Amino acid sequence: MTAPVWLRTRQWLRRVGTVVKKVLHVGCGTATIERMPEGFQDGSWTESRYDISPDCNPDFVGDMLDMSAVPDGSMDALYSSHNVEHVFFHEVPQMLREFRRVLKDDGFCVITCPDIQEIARFMAEGQLDDPLYHSPIGPISPLDIMYGHSASIERGRVYMAHKTGFSLKLLAKRLGQAGFGQYHGMRNRPGRDLWFVATKNEVGQEMVKRIFEKYIPSELT
Ligand SMILES: C[S@@+](CC[C@H](N)C(=O)[O-])C[C@H]1O[C@@H](n2cnc3c(N)ncnc32)[C@H](O)[C@@H]1O
Repeated sequence: MTAPVWLRTRQWLRRVGTVVKKVLHVGCGTATIERMPEGFQDGSWTESRYDISPDCNPDFVGDMLDMSAVPDGSMDALYSSHNVEHVFFHEVPQMLREFRRVLKDDGFCVITCPDIQEIARFMAEGQLDDPLYHSPIGPISPLDIMYGHSASIERGRVYMAHKTGFSLKLLAKRLGQAGFGQYHGMRNRPGRDLWFVATKNEVGQEMVKRIFEKYIPSELT
C-alpha cells in the first residue's frame, strides 16, 4: 500500500535535510501526530511523544510536572490534548511552566481540554452518568469528563483520573500567570472542549491569531 502524501513528504524532507520542526506531544496516550490538527500535517513536523504511562510506548516516560528529560528551549511546539486536567489545581502553574520551558523562543503550545463550564451545565440538569457521546474507549458521561474515565480507572489506570478543570476564563488566566507572552482560546460548545494557542513570548495579537487559525482544527475556526 502506498504511504499517504503527508508521510511521503515528511520522509522526503527528512532525506534532503530540510527544516523539520519538533512538536512535543504531552499526555499523548496512544495518539500520534496523525491525530493532531491539520497544521501539523504539512510534512515539516516531527513528533516526540511524552506520557506518564509506558503502555503507550512514548519517546519519554515521565510526569509532565517534571519534564527534565526534555532540554530547555528545544521544541518548536507542544501539543496537549485532554491532558492538563490530570494534575491538581495547585500543580497547574508548575505544569504550564514546564510546557513553556521546553519551547524555543518563537515556540507555541496548542492545548485542548474539557470545558468544565459546559459539563457543569449537564450536571446541573441531573445528567451525571448518561452517555454524552461514544468514544473508541466506550461511552463517556459528564461524570467521566469531570472526574476521569471511570472504566480506565477501574482497570487500575489511576493516572486517568481528572484532578482539576478549566473554563475559558480560568485557562487564559493561568497561561498568563505562567508567563506565556500571548494566548488565544475558544469554547467548542458542540465538542464540550476548549482550544488554546499560547506563545512562549510576546508575538502580538495578530500573530497569535494566525497560529490559532493554522493549528486549531479548521472546522472550529
Ligand atoms: C485522556 S488521555 C488523552 C490521550 C490523548 N492525548 C488523546 O487526546 O486521545 C490522558 C493521557 O494523559 C496521560 N497523563 C496523565 N497524567 C499525566 C502526567 N502527570 N504526566 C504525563 N502524562 C500524564 C495519561 O497517561 C493519558 O495517556
